[in-house]
Amino acid sequence: MPSVGFGLWKVDKETCADTVYNAIKAGYRLFDAAADYGNEKQAGEGLRRALQEGIVKREDIFITSKLWNTFHAQEHVKKVTRMQLEHWGIDYFDLFLIHFPISLKYVDPNHRYPAEWMGDDGKVHLEKVPMHETWKAMEELVDDSLVKNIGLSNCQGSLILDILQYAKYEPQVLQIELHPYLTQEPLVDLCKRWGIAVTAYSSFGPQSYLELGMGKTAPSLLDHSIIGAIASAHGKTPAQVLLRWATQRGLAVIPKSNDHGRLVSNLQCDGFDLTEQELAAISGLNMNYRLNDPVNIEPLLSIFA
Ligand SMILES: NC(=O)c1ccc[n+]([C@@H]2O[C@H](COP(=O)([O-])OP(=O)(O)OC[C@H]3O[C@@H](n4cnc5c(N)ncnc54)[C@H](OP(=O)(O)O)[C@@H]3O)[C@@H](O)[C@H]2O)c1
Repeated sequence: MPSVGFGLWKVDKETCADTVYNAIKAGYRLFDAAADYGNEKQAGEGLRRALQEGIVKREDIFITSKLWNTFHAQEHVKKVTRMQLEHWGIDYFDLFLIHFPISLKYVDPNHRYPAEWMGDDGKVHLEKVPMHETWKAMEELVDDSLVKNIGLSNCQGSLILDILQYAKYEPQVLQIELHPYLTQEPLVDLCKRWGIAVTAYSSFGPQSYLELGMGKTAPSLLDHSIIGAIASAHGKTPAQVLLRWATQRGLAVIPKSNDHGRLVSNLQCDGFDLTEQELAAISGLNMNYRLNDPVNIEPLLSIFA
């Protein structure tokens, strides 16, 4: 799995095909998608253009996608995965993740897709599907060659340990919110010990959440004086320093940008090394500040409690 990829959350539908195509031309080889992002068809269009022009072959590109909360039941997993593959116009995902350890009432894609969190009545409806059922269905995707690897997102240590008790195929990747305000050392350490690769999302901390009206209670990481000073010392941008801080800790990153210049510069975050002191200074900013927490949608969904 490439250590730097491109995140597709909040990439506009209108520009998504061009963005993916241009990202491939710029050198990106991993795309992080999800049913929930609502742009898999457009992303697939961009990929197809790059494939048709011979810029890359399918096997050069690593595509991650995710199972949404409304499809956790055994009977829905394969169907929706096939549909997502069809949207992309490909016949396998390199990695397929359970987006959240939360099962919501099924929503027929013909009725609403992406289904999002709320039912038609504006309320969250849970559905009783245990994780072992969903994990087994994920394993069948591997057996059917629809996906090459399976993994988890937004899960904590105790659930990972439980899945490891019954997994035929162990989770290969855990994707979690991780940035200098939420460094998650114990969880990263647990994953290392079990051989689970960790992908950090929202590497720029509050930045991604400002447009959602969130993330205003902590200072910007991109404007932070400590990050700024380290960036100046290396002749890099604050964004590149935030990404390198993660990759140097052995994490993969998937920055998103709707701006081509920023998209290109984010990929160029691996040609320098931070010192131990710089890494420690950045990690020292931790304040367990979590932005993406379903408890903000529904108190019953406090998965990080
Ligand atoms: N598994 C999950 O539950 C989950 C949750 C969240 C995210 N993710 C994945 O992780 C990816 C990345 O996370 P994210 O989108 O939340 O946040 P992110 O990549 O940390 O930040 C994106 C924000 O930073 C801005 N930005 C990007 N590059 C910049 C640069 N070089 N300088 C200044 N600003 C810059 C972007 O604005 P512009 O677009 O205007 O540049 C956008 O506002 C997502 O796209 C998604 O694929 C997964």
